[in-house]
Amino acid sequence: MLYSEKVMDHFSNPRNVGEIEDADGVGEIGNAKCGDIMKMYLKIDNGIITDAKFKTFGCGAAVATSSMATELIKGKSIDDALKLTNQAVVEALDGLPAVKIHCSVLAEQAVRSALSDYYTRQGIDPLPIVGEIKEPEE
Ligand code: FES
Repeated sequence: MLYSEKVMDHFSNPRNVGEIEDADGVGEIGNAKCGDIMKMYLKIDNGIITDAKFKTFGCGAAVATSSMATELIKGKSIDDALKLTNQAVVEALDGLPAVKIHCSVLAEQAVRSALSDYYTRQGIDPLPIVGEIKEPEE
């Protein structure tokens, strides 16, 4: 079996799909090579991510990793969400095939992009806090 049960579960039954209309931060990231796009919406209250939703126009692994990423950051502080690595998302899904690791980078960067937007809206320069948002290149 190429994909773990958890990946299949989050692909067939993704958590937190949709938009948050009054989101405090919205991020979008794409991968130019495969053409996949991920949009991430965050609701943030007192430094805590109270809600996270996503829309992914992309492959199954992109759907599964964005679903897992939203689950991992919900209820967490911004600091914790900033520490979320694509590796942590992959581990939480019990692994991904090597050719699909870049899809998890899309999820990681979508979270960072939404947090970056959050800081921008607060009038705070996001760059020193969030760092550069990088499009996955593989
Ligand atoms: Fe593009 Fe998975 S193939 S994100």
